[in-house]
Amino acid sequence: MRILITAGPTYEYIDRIRYLSNGSSGKMGYALAGIAQQKGDKVILVSGPTSLTPPRGVKFIRVVSAHQMYRVVRRHYPGVDAVIMAAAVSDFTPSRYFTGKIKRAGREITLKLAPTVDILKELGRRKGKHCLIGFALEVSNGRKNALKKLYHKNLDYVVLNSPTAMGNDNSTVEIYNKNGLVRRMENTSKKQISRFIIDLLTRKRRSICCVQNVIRR
Ligand code: CTP
Repeated sequence: MRILITAGPTYEYIDRIRYLSNGSSGKMGYALAGIAQQKGDKVILVSGPTSLTPPRGVKFIRVVSAHQMYRVVRRHYPGVDAVIMAAAVSDFTPSRYFTGKIKRAGREITLKLAPTVDILKELGRRKGKHCLIGFALEVSNGRKNALKKLYHKNLDYVVLNSPTAMGNDNSTVEIYNKNGLVRRMENTSKKQISRFIIDLLTRKRRSICCVQNVIRR
């Protein structure tokens, strides 16, 4: 299987020095890439800025902003079977980039933000035969919001997690598909969670291929 996995945060630069971002470490996406690669999948890892070393054998593409991530993902989408969006993509970017450095003025300044493209939603619109997995980072009404994302972004699975996952080696997740809860994993290592997700994806992919073969016959 050919899988594209995104990981880490994005940086949205305000000026040459400062940026908007979040606390994503990239550990979940890198763990997924490592496990998929070990299982023999062809992996493209598209990563925002992190301090992690990419797993050996994956095609590694580093990006900075949400827009760059979108361009890279869109370019590789036709050549892959599945996409796992584990990246914590920024939803906003400064409306204006200040060349140089904004100097201290001693008074309040206003930062205008524009929405970034929802990469996963765009992929869902052109789903075709792709398998799509998204992550939902929620602070309240987790199940409801995760299911909303599953439907609105046209996903096969959504992985609900919480801010405590950020930067940690472990996470508590609930994985949903359109039939409901598939699995809850409490305080489990991101490697183990990755094994489960990659197995799920492999089985899903196999069932799609079986159906296609039956149709062709
Ligand atoms: N995502 C994306 N593009 C964005 C924002 C998010 O592709 N601009 C993807 C994430 O990688 C994740 C899923 O969408 O797989 C859900 O991301 P999340 O941050 O939980 O939710 P949002 O869709 O951004 O909505 P909100 O922040 O309002 O909860």
